[in-house]
Amino acid sequence: MTFSSIRLVLVAVLVPLSISIQSSEAATAGDVARLFQEKVMNGSSKIRPVINQSHIVDVEMTLHIVSLLDVNEVQQSVEATIWMQVYWKNELLVWNPNAYGNLTRVYPPETNMWKPDLAISNGYDELTPVGLDFVLLQSNHDGETEWNPGQKISFLCKIDVSKFPFDTQTCHMDFFNWAGKKEETSLNYRETTKMKESEAGYANSEWKIIERRAEKQHNASHETVRVILVLQRKSISLVLTVLLPVILLAFLNVFVFLLPTESGEKLSFSVTVLLSQAVFLSFISGLMPQTSDSISGLSIYISAQLILSAIYVLLTCFNLSMYHRDTNSRPIPPWLMKILCVRVDSGHSVYPLKENGDKLVSMTDGVTGSDICLRLDRICFWVFLIVVFLMTALFLSDGLSAQINT
Ligand SMILES: *[C@@H]1O[C@H](CO)[C@@H](O)[C@H](O)[C@H]1NC(C)=O
Ligand SMILES: *[C@@H]1O[C@H](CO)[C@@H](O)[C@H](O)[C@H]1NC(C)=O
Ligand SMILES: *[C@@H]1O[C@H](CO)[C@@H](O)[C@H](O)[C@H]1NC(C)=O
Ligand SMILES: *[C@@H]1O[C@H](CO)[C@@H](O)[C@H](O)[C@H]1NC(C)=O
Repeated sequence: MTFSSIRLVLVAVLVPLSISIQSSEAATAGDVARLFQEKVMNGSSKIRPVINQSHIVDVEMTLHIVSLLDVNEVQQSVEATIWMQVYWKNELLVWNPNAYGNLTRVYPPETNMWKPDLAISNGYDELTPVGLDFVLLQSNHDGETEWNPGQKISFLCKIDVSKFPFDTQTCHMDFFNWAGKKEETSLNYRETTKMKESEAGYANSEWKIIERRAEKQHNASHETVRVILVLQRKSISLVLTVLLPVILLAFLNVFVFLLPTESGEKLSFSVTVLLSQAVFLSFISGLMPQTSDSISGLSIYISAQLILSAIYVLLTCFNLSMYHRDTNSRPIPPWLMKILCVRVDSGHSVYPLKENGDKLVSMTDGVTGSDICLRLDRICFWVFLIVVFLMTALFLSDGLSAQINT
């Protein structure tokens, strides 16, 4: 038995027992046995608890979430431990307390009691019936019956990761009465006021429940109660472990253009950053659904950075080849110098002018590869710094606006 199911049993059993302590204090064991013999034991779980069988049994339910165990983006499912309070009136088990030593409450076995066959229609792996065998039923002398099933359920939830890691998900559980038409059994949600704060008694480390509401759906032949959960991702740890490194890497990468070619580290630097970005991309895609219904902004951002990194590597290669070019035998093509704003005259000599003694002479020996290299690096540095800055600003403003809207 896992820890969570022990927790569930404690909640489901102790809560109803603690309510019932003051009842039936005057009754003797004989009174209880007599009531069981006369009223309880010849009840049947197959007979709807109304005297006139054309009447509707009104069932009301309340859902409590013990803990939110897991939100699985890849499988698009949510796992939670729940317990429920289900109420209805049993007209077949009504007795006069005075005749049974003021006994007002009994715990009938479920083989002798009708109970609604509740199920969750959007369960993850199958139609999930609600309630295990050992759960408690309690009946009052006026027929009011309460049933407290509880279990671990896993239900489908369409998870939209486009705002990851600043996302908010709306999930729902659909409860309906599996056996019986809506002319026989109606299902409603009973709002509780006092348990409101303890939305999930045991908080999930990654998600918090920011809203819970229930609505009734009349559409099908069954009445369905839809319990809607709005979940918000606690993004702070993802910001620190994923977002921050990714953004830092994006900016760090641009500085390859400041690295002097002489250091001989340019290429290894940009390839290293490219590889670490690829590692982050595969880590993020492991957190995402395999379908492509929604792609997170973070994945797009990292992919864009990956493309930029590849461009940096190409530019660095080009730069290195320029640097080591023998410009005497293979001069720099004029169009390249035009792009880089190096002014050229007819003999491939360029300004700037060089001070030589008192007079200025133009450098007639042509542009060397390292001049081109340096100029190219400066231009790339500023252009890509601005590009990365704009991309980051766009990405962050998108994510933060999603965070603020909720
Ligand atoms: C249950 O049994 C008692 C007597 O043993 C009888 O009077 C009563 O009508 C029975 N009730 C039902 C619902 O069968
Ligand atoms: C049962 O209820 C229906 C409708 O509420 C009514 O028409 C019918 O007379 C009732 N039958 C008995 C036996 O009371
Ligand atoms: C049941 O309660 C009434 C009043 O609450 C009391 O007068 C009576 O003695 C009680 N009966 C028994 C058997 O305890
Ligand atoms: C049934 O559901 C559809 C959409 O799912 C909705 O447009 C329609 O109004 C619903 N009908 C009723 C009776 O609620």
